[in-house]
Amino acid sequence: MKVKIEKKSILDIDADVIVVNLFEGVKHPGGVTGIVDKAFNNVISDYVIKKEKFEGKYGEIYKLPLIGEDKKIFVVGLGKQADFSYSKIRNLTAKVVRTCGSNIKKVVSILHGAGVAGLCPQLCAQMIAEGAISGTYNFDKYKTKKKENNISDFIIAEIDDEKYKKAKKGIEEGLIVAQSVNMARDLINESSQYLYPETLAQFAVENSNVKTTVYNKEQIKEMGMNAFLAVGQGSIHEPKFIHMEYKPQNPKKKIAIVGKGITFDAGGLDLKPPSSMLTMRDDMSGAAAVITTMKAISELKPDVEVHAIVAACENMPSGSSYKPGDVIIAKTGRSIEIDNTDAEGRVTLADALAYAEELGVDEIIDIATLTGACMVALGTVASGIMGNNDKKIKEFIDVAKQIGEKFWQLPMDEEYGDTLKSDIADTKNTGGRMGGASAAGIFLSKFIKNTPWIHIDIAGTAFIDKPNDEGIKNATGIGVRSLIKYINTYN
Ligand code: BES
Ligand code: MG
Ligand code: ZN
Repeated sequence: MKVKIEKKSILDIDADVIVVNLFEGVKHPGGVTGIVDKAFNNVISDYVIKKEKFEGKYGEIYKLPLIGEDKKIFVVGLGKQADFSYSKIRNLTAKVVRTCGSNIKKVVSILHGAGVAGLCPQLCAQMIAEGAISGTYNFDKYKTKKKENNISDFIIAEIDDEKYKKAKKGIEEGLIVAQSVNMARDLINESSQYLYPETLAQFAVENSNVKTTVYNKEQIKEMGMNAFLAVGQGSIHEPKFIHMEYKPQNPKKKIAIVGKGITFDAGGLDLKPPSSMLTMRDDMSGAAAVITTMKAISELKPDVEVHAIVAACENMPSGSSYKPGDVIIAKTGRSIEIDNTDAEGRVTLADALAYAEELGVDEIIDIATLTGACMVALGTVASGIMGNNDKKIKEFIDVAKQIGEKFWQLPMDEEYGDTLKSDIADTKNTGGRMGGASAAGIFLSKFIKNTPWIHIDIAGTAFIDKPNDEGIKNATGIGVRSLIKYINTYN
């Protein structure tokens, strides 16, 4: 599908579907919707609104066939104007694309949000581009019958010169972001039968356009990452440590993004029950987010040095697995008593974070499907966020909010670490279920000396079983959009 913009009236662009919109409660549409209404004998105001009682509720789409013409008008409900947001533009566009049957080839759309709502035309267009691409997403590579979507052109119509220019930029960025998001979804949805540390590393090498170094087991041992190695030692698949680098000439800032990369989490010897294990191929969602973010960064080219780091392994039960009661010396020299082999993500991250800090970056962000406790606390709506720098956490939350990803700060009071006290080592890897997301955060904090650090827990948001507002289920690709946007704010 091509997403583009044309500096023409929406009426002068040949298409199978014309997409216009309506805020809730509006009886007499203005702007471009008003123009389309007038051009077709007030069919929107007299028929769709008055007769058919279309109210413009958020997410409603009225499909209006035009008599004597081989095209349709889609009237999209934007909901209440006060509740309108950029992410709604993305969601609605995705829905429009999903609603188009297989014989629709060309769609022309109004630049939602840039009219009466007065939002930034660039970001509005970015949302439309993201929504259009996202709306075609399906993980159906293993289905013999694929869902058909035959839209060849998705065109935004905009005659205002200023808005046109901004929107054009927005589309470019939107396409880059959307491709990374879909790529992350593909990686996460992929079965762990095919996606294991080696194939994940290979993907990073082949798809990112940045320098990517992959370290094998011997090298990881030499680098002192015993904690990471311990988690992977029960699997037939060798662990891989992935380091990707984007280095512009004179960076304004250096950031490391670290993704949890457990390609399957069976729990290890503390085996998970079947219902909890079922979706554990998603336990590399953080890794997918940082790897695909690098692809977008390589195309957007911000003046920020970015390192993506993934300690990839599988957490399996076997004769060679690490065991409860084992004591492991992490890269920093800190000893960890394994209390539960299923709290493995933080053990791998302990070494990955230490590696990141050695790079001398200004800031570290880790993203991980880390705790069931975070999922219990925040559900599938918001991801947990914490760290050692409240200002940066707030900045991240604000940037993400604008583009529709929700993060909620969880506490990091020292007391949450009380349960981690060990009789035989410097720390245990877990101490129970209560306050588990914060305890995991405290555990991680012990492996960072003084670099500003943000920890993001996406256990509840990375993989969902009901379609969200964007029409996406299973892998969501959460985090990719926020990471890209956050890194770009330093540009
Ligand atoms: N990968 C899981 C966390 C998770 C749970 C992710 C649900 C996505 C959905 C993590 O490795 C884990 O098993 N955590 C344990 C920790 C416990 C043993 C302290 C958990 O949350 O149950
Ligand atoms: Mg686990
Ligand atoms: Zn895990």
